[in-house]
Amino acid sequence: MKTKNIALLPGDGIGPEVTDQARKVLEAIGEISKVKFEFKEALIGAAAIDETGDPFPRETEELCLNADAILFGAIGHPKYDNDPSAEVRPEQGLLRMRKQLGLFANIRPVKSYDLLADVSPLKNHVIDQVDLVVFRELTGGIYFGERDKTDNDAFDTCSYSVNEIRRISKLAFKAAKKRRKKVTLVDKANVLATSQLWREVVKEMSGDFPEIELDFMFVDNAAMKIIQTPKSFDVILTENMFGDILSDEASVITGSLGMLPSASVGSKVALYEPIHGSFPEAAGQNIANPIAAILSAGMLLDYSFGMVNERKIIEKAIENALANGDVTADLTDGKALGTAQFGDLIAKAIKENQSIVTS
Ligand code: IPM
Ligand code: MG
Repeated sequence: MKTKNIALLPGDGIGPEVTDQARKVLEAIGEISKVKFEFKEALIGAAAIDETGDPFPRETEELCLNADAILFGAIGHPKYDNDPSAEVRPEQGLLRMRKQLGLFANIRPVKSYDLLADVSPLKNHVIDQVDLVVFRELTGGIYFGERDKTDNDAFDTCSYSVNEIRRISKLAFKAAKKRRKKVTLVDKANVLATSQLWREVVKEMSGDFPEIELDFMFVDNAAMKIIQTPKSFDVILTENMFGDILSDEASVITGSLGMLPSASVGSKVALYEPIHGSFPEAAGQNIANPIAAILSAGMLLDYSFGMVNERKIIEKAIENALANGDVTADLTDGKALGTAQFGDLIAKAIKENQSIVTS
């Protein structure tokens, strides 16, 4: 029996509730496979500030570095949102974690579910069969550049090196090879110097991937195309802030922000998290949708441990639940399951092997 150590960082708001369901699901996978998962919890975000004064304490960093994979919930608390200039903020913990763990690529798959077609505000024929993935650069750009603010003015700096562009682009090209073989670089090269460098580097790299079709799109146009013709995208490659914005927009295709998982990878241990935030209004009410967190656990099995089939088992169990109308309140006007009940249902389905994939 192999043991895998998972660092569990529940964070703030609905983070603890949704990661709890992801953990149940991994434990269920542990019961039907030869791998046992051990979880160690650590503090991050507002919860960590309250306890230690630091949104990403040293202890948390060490736990992460010693783990085989990290499962993260969400960070953010209204008391900081109402005071955007607070010196110590939960978001700093998330950004420092990404930087210190070297998590330079954030991978956000977006797939439409037939069964949720009517939940999305977009027309059925537009979202039918959407399958795209956003490769968002995560440790550079304007998020990490020099910045300052006085009462009269302020500045933020966006910078990228060739190396920073290359390492994520390589992952995006490789992913496209296993998909529909198309990469769209989203930038603002008609204005920004960093975007011009991205274009040059990515164009040059595309020579090594002759089977991949590469196209370029300005971010404003991409924002429109993502909801107008989402099927035209396969792999979207983009810098940090554009990726942040476009991936929230893309979640509209699936019907709920509560559906989208993500993986953040780099040179060390990888981290998995739902793309949604801490949704403080729903915290502790057992109403949050844990699907994004559970699908993130599925990506963890696949990417960190090569357990592709187990990921499929989880995805199938979720599809079955959707087909039966067993969903949380964000996905139905009718009778809804609670967060914990949904997690229990998926864990039970896995243990009973109802969802075993035979293909
Ligand atoms: C995300 C979030 C974060 C980001 C925030 C909380 C700093 O929106 O992971 O997409 O902007 O990266
Ligand atoms: Mg975001």
